[in-house]
Amino acid sequence: MADWDDVGADLIITDPPFGIEFDGKQENYNRDSSNVVEGYIEWEEDEYKNKINTLLQTASQNLKDDGQCLIFSGWNNSHLIHELCFKSSMNLRGKMYWEYNFAPYCKNRPAHNVYEIFWLTKGEEWTYNNDCSYEHCTKGESNLSSMEINRDYHKNIPKYPTRLPSEVIGVLLEHYSEEGDTIFDPLAGSGMVGIVSDDKNRDAVLGDLNKEAIDVYNEIRDKYSTKENGSVFDY
Ligand SMILES: C[S@@+](CC[C@H](N)C(=O)[O-])C[C@H]1O[C@@H](n2cnc3c(N)ncnc32)[C@H](O)[C@@H]1O
Repeated sequence: MADWDDVGADLIITDPPFGIEFDGKQENYNRDSSNVVEGYIEWEEDEYKNKINTLLQTASQNLKDDGQCLIFSGWNNSHLIHELCFKSSMNLRGKMYWEYNFAPYCKNRPAHNVYEIFWLTKGEEWTYNNDCSYEHCTKGESNLSSMEINRDYHKNIPKYPTRLPSEVIGVLLEHYSEEGDTIFDPLAGSGMVGIVSDDKNRDAVLGDLNKEAIDVYNEIRDKYSTKENGSVFDY
């Protein structure tokens, strides 16, 4: 993550580890753990602040002067991300909520199905398109305070813990970027941000320390790409 230098991104969309004990294989996640790829790198609680600070520096260093950044967060450590966004050299512009349909084994307690998404700009400028082509705008108001979008699943293929659904990435791309823009995800996991970016005629730059993630990327690329020859990314 920290090795990137001057990517020149227009938009960063990224989803950092949670800072909890997580490998996506636990039974309460209601999935066949034998399909889940190995190698997911989690961040320890006591290193979480440093890692988020490194992510924020990496983001700032690799954005254009008028670039923007969208950082996902689960609930456990979103307070830390919020605080560090405020203190970073970038400008925190707002926070959105994404609600989804995933309910970890919830017989014993209510499940928490919401992510926060922090919106930052490197400088004073920001870009935002009022409309997108998804139900989020065609059926509802073009309002990004909250999005209700289901996670999408496929059976019997390699799975990546925490893979984002294509629709949530698509909505954000259409609202916060233009065709031809460079989209960067330094914590790319399955590479969904790259797949959807390519599909929407944006260039993507992806990275992840987990080299096993590429197996999922190779498996899902054709499932989510509407192009006959979607771009292939190097991790
Ligand atoms: C929440 S997951 C991202 C999932 C991704 N958004 C997707 O749709 O598949 C976070 C990712 O960060 C990776 N990671 C953790 N520390 C890293 C580091 N220092 N550099 C690069 N990747 C790292 C993990 O291996 C994991 O794939």
